Amino acid sequence: MHSPSASSSTRPEVLVTGGAGYIGSHVCVELVNAGYRPVVVDNLSNSKREAVRRVARICELEPDFYELDLNDREGLTEVFKKHDFKAVMHFAGLKAVGESSQIPLKYYRENLGGTLTLCEVMAEFSQGNLIFSSSATVYGDPATVPIDERFPTSATNPYGRSKLIIEEILRDLAAAPKEHQNSAWNITLLRYFNPVGAHESGLIGEDPSGIPNNLLPYIAQVAIGKLERLSVFGDDYDTVDGTGVRDYIHVVDLAKGHVAALEALDSTGPGCRAYNLGTGQGYSVLQMVKAFEKASGRDIPYQIAPRRPGDIANCYANADLARQELGWEAQFGLERMMVDAWRWQSQNPDGY
Ligand code: NAD
Ligand code: UD1
Repeated sequence: MHSPSASSSTRPEVLVTGGAGYIGSHVCVELVNAGYRPVVVDNLSNSKREAVRRVARICELEPDFYELDLNDREGLTEVFKKHDFKAVMHFAGLKAVGESSQIPLKYYRENLGGTLTLCEVMAEFSQGNLIFSSSATVYGDPATVPIDERFPTSATNPYGRSKLIIEEILRDLAAAPKEHQNSAWNITLLRYFNPVGAHESGLIGEDPSGIPNNLLPYIAQVAIGKLERLSVFGDDYDTVDGTGVRDYIHVVDLAKGHVAALEALDSTGPGCRAYNLGTGQGYSVLQMVKAFEKASGRDIPYQIAPRRPGDIANCYANADLARQELGWEAQFGLERMMVDAWRWQSQNPDGY
């Protein structure tokens, strides 16, 4: 294992569940940059150990790593015994929307079960500071855009429902009287819009297994020649050019939003609150294709295909609340997202 820098022992420790994954690995880098020491728990079901080693190459501090399933209560208890966490950031879970409709029980077991075990162990150690990876999917099919945090929530698939149920469980925990628990819960729910891009080093990025479900990794694999052409799911939506519009956010901006949320926990006190992490700007599928062609210098052949069941026309954030209360806003624009996504894809054509 890479030996941590001399100052690492004085850094506050943050438990990062799912820290070997796409978003978690980028958050580890930003935690180190901000003076923290990430401790990763991941079962590597959708990631590689190499991602954590690459984090160390970027910021010269290798996070402690435990290959562990969150449902393994004894293993998790041992991790809590060894460390003194300032907070927990909880990314671990399954995220494939289509698969969640085919094997819902697995999604509920992993996402709900993992979260319950984590919270029980946290309570045992009087740890109540929690930042949870939620999703814009909790807004279902919104009546209007931009979407703010007061919009009604709903779910259209088991993945989305697992996020929604976890949000509700965490609100219940935060509302329960302190005398019945070991810790006061101080919880932040971060509702991500569409994370894309990669760290500027090109060392860490999104490494989907199999054929990607999401737009950006699919486009990137067409650009590199691994996939023949993109299917654009529908061109008859009520949007700028008929294709679906989303709020794409650079994963490094997203990661910095987590550090901002962590630092805000000190001043907010017990409770549970939700923030959108998006840019507030929507782009269509065809705008994304054009932007990626420009960044990569490659053609992206595409064909128009039927709408994907469950898709919505427009989804972008009102991100004012995060700016006001967390002092955070996204810095990187579309061009930078594409350049960084292409650097990662072209330097790592087969992923890690
Ligand atoms: P990811 O699959 O790359 O990362 C999740 C990590 O959790 C993986 O490394 C996986 O091995 C690990 N994991 C899964 N189940 C586990 C378990 N039971 N025990 C321990 N580790 C486990 O996904 P990501 O894109 O980095 O997403 C992170 C979180 O953000 C997820 O909760 C996801 O639902 C949420 N989210 C992601 C997006 C997105 O577009 N990527 C959007 C909204 C919300
Ligand atoms: C999807 C999930 C959402 C999840 C998010 C992040 C669905 C219905 N929604 O969001 O719950 O939180 O990923 O993991 O799966 N597109 C194409 N061709 C493709 C792929 C996508 O045209 O091959 C289009 C889609 O129709 C959509 C846009 O690109 O308009 C973005 O799609 P995607 O990246 O899958 O994200 P979401 O659908 O927003």
